[in-house]
Amino acid sequence: MTGNYPLTRLRRTRASAWSRTLHRENILTPADLIWPLFITSGEGVEEPIASLPGVSRWSVDLIVARAQEAVALGIPVVALFPNTPHDLRSADGAEAHNPDNLMCRAIRAIKAACGDTLGVLTDVALDPYTSHGQDGLVDEAGYVLNDETVAALVDQAVNQARAGADIIAPSDMMDGRIHAIRQALEMNGFPNVQIMSYAAKYASAFYGPFRDAVGSGGLLKGDKKTYQMDPANGDEALREVALDLAEGADSVMVKPGLAYLDIVRRVKDEFAVPVFAYQVSGEYAMIEAAAAAGAGDRDALVLETLLAFKRAGASGILTYHAPHAARLLHG
Ligand code: PBG
Repeated sequence: MTGNYPLTRLRRTRASAWSRTLHRENILTPADLIWPLFITSGEGVEEPIASLPGVSRWSVDLIVARAQEAVALGIPVVALFPNTPHDLRSADGAEAHNPDNLMCRAIRAIKAACGDTLGVLTDVALDPYTSHGQDGLVDEAGYVLNDETVAALVDQAVNQARAGADIIAPSDMMDGRIHAIRQALEMNGFPNVQIMSYAAKYASAFYGPFRDAVGSGGLLKGDKKTYQMDPANGDEALREVALDLAEGADSVMVKPGLAYLDIVRRVKDEFAVPVFAYQVSGEYAMIEAAAAAGAGDRDALVLETLLAFKRAGASGILTYHAPHAARLLHG
């Protein structure tokens, strides 16, 4: 018998569901997800965020319920962001250092309720606390000062660690802050508090709804281009990651997500360390808008985009779709 058949048929292994399951290279599970949560003041308060349909700010008592929901869904970590009352915002963001600020109260309440069953990741940057909406301290010209800001971030990080934070996540992009925060955590008796650095964070147009959520959007003058990265740059991301690892970061983050999957892959290949990606607010809003417009099936879009992060080499994904995706994955 002779014939001119193809030697390899890649469709063969795709021909049945069991075979597709067997050959699947990557898998998304609830354990890959980190759920960002917004905190607001008061009690029994839920405030829907218009630009993030389906996402709300919760008062501390209700945040605890969200944290318990995360545990029940198999989501290992929540990420906290406060919407500081506007009368507590100032040029120097002093409220960041208050041991009873919204963030610290939420950390304590969640850790009291969930203990070791849930990790609490806290954002370190001054933007939810400053009257000008920048992530750091500014001079008269509005320039964000590096070393003065690092000193403030160190205090902010130790304040969060004292309240019980498990992972400190500096999102400010100042130079040298990972080293300074690591030293301060060690000196203050927190050798096992981790640092997940927002190592490659870009000056992106995808952060708009987040700034609404933490109430800094209307306050922000100018942009963040003097500290966040230029979207044109890839090699520079590797330098940022190398520095943060040398300074003591346990894991690194790339942000935003889908538009920067090449960076996730390059970081993973170059450093072989835990890399996380943040599918940010504007990405979430885009998927929701597409689904609402009938341009795609919401559930399928959510799972496909999240799986793409795993394929790119991410160890996990921060996403506002976390509870929805976890429910879908549980079937
Ligand atoms: C600020 C911070 C931002 C996000 C997380 N931390 C926004 C910014 O840099 O202006 C964005 C997250 C999102 O858009 O979902 N420190």
